[in-house]
Amino acid sequence: MTHTITVIRGDGIGPEIMAATLHVLDTMNLGLAYEEADAGMVAQEKHGELLPQATLDSIAKNRIALKSPLTTPVGEGFTSINVSLRKKFDLYANVRPAKSFPNTKSRFPDGVDLITIRENTEGLYIGDGQTVSEDGEIATSTSRITHKGAERVVRYAFELARKTGRKKVTIVHKANILKSTSGLFLKTAREIAAKYPDIEANEMIVDNTCMQLVMRPEQFDIIVTTNLFGDIISDLCAGLVGGLGLAPGANIGDDAAIFEAVHGSAPDIAGKGVANPCALLLAAGQMLDHLAMPAEANRLRKAIVDTLEAKDNLTPDLGGSGTTMSFAEAIARRL
Ligand code: NAI
Ligand code: MG
Repeated sequence: MTHTITVIRGDGIGPEIMAATLHVLDTMNLGLAYEEADAGMVAQEKHGELLPQATLDSIAKNRIALKSPLTTPVGEGFTSINVSLRKKFDLYANVRPAKSFPNTKSRFPDGVDLITIRENTEGLYIGDGQTVSEDGEIATSTSRITHKGAERVVRYAFELARKTGRKKVTIVHKANILKSTSGLFLKTAREIAAKYPDIEANEMIVDNTCMQLVMRPEQFDIIVTTNLFGDIISDLCAGLVGGLGLAPGANIGDDAAIFEAVHGSAPDIAGKGVANPCALLLAAGQMLDHLAMPAEANRLRKAIVDTLEAKDNLTPDLGGSGTTMSFAEAIARRL
């Protein structure tokens, strides 16, 4: 079966890492077809808008997108394109694996293999009730958690545990202080956890979680949490395994899914051909899992690990002197 994927090459290093990623995918002969769509600054320049309707239509039709980083111009009136996409397609589960790889700058060369699942549509990120009093003395912002929103993301976490043979889900919260919002999230999570007796569930307060992650990351398997906590924790986890060049993310909804690198468009190295393509390649691996091609996804991940192991054409962020494309070619040779 041919899957058509919306491909967004994006801004900054985006086109470079996408070319590298598609080169590797093409080597695998997966029967994927690509539909190109624009978003970000490149779309602003070509079509006069950051997120053209044609791009939204393409994602709605194909239901799968592989997306490079986008630059959101700084200034009044620009909402983040990523936040817009998550809202538009109700992509409620942000799935961010963090796994130790060989020859990276990780302090835990083989101790980390966890997935953070961040609720992606609610919490403090709804953007409601953001006010600052006229005298500039008082600011407010509203957080909203719904039973439905908590339920679907926690269920996703437990289903993923079952599907991937993971054993434990840690529910991360601050219900001792944020009694209404974090309280509802925790209460709902407990209800769902009770329906999965085969998966161990535990609860941890978010500040302690940060300390535990740095001290003993090997105790974690899957973490599920609300939007803001998940945003911060998943970056912490990327740091545990050697940084942004190796951190992929999937935004999953019932009707569409968008796969991307966690990092941004890296304007400081754009156009130099030295960006590490691994984060987007690992996101492509998540996409293959989602397309029910787990053997192909594992084949891709193994080729990446083998290339890191051999220190073959690693990019400068990993201490090598390879280029984005020579690194990708080294990975492709191992497939
Ligand atoms: P960034 O992630 O682009 O860069 C941070 C640092 O990491 C830079 O030194 C960069 O060179 C390095 N880096 C990032 N990816 C790398 C890679 N693949 N290989 C080697 N080094 C890499 O974050 P920054 O500078 O805060 O943001 C730049 C732009 O990216 C902003 O316009 C921001 O809005 C956008 N952005 C977009 C995201 C998305 O589309 N998902 C996510 C985060 C930021
Ligand atoms: Mg973030």
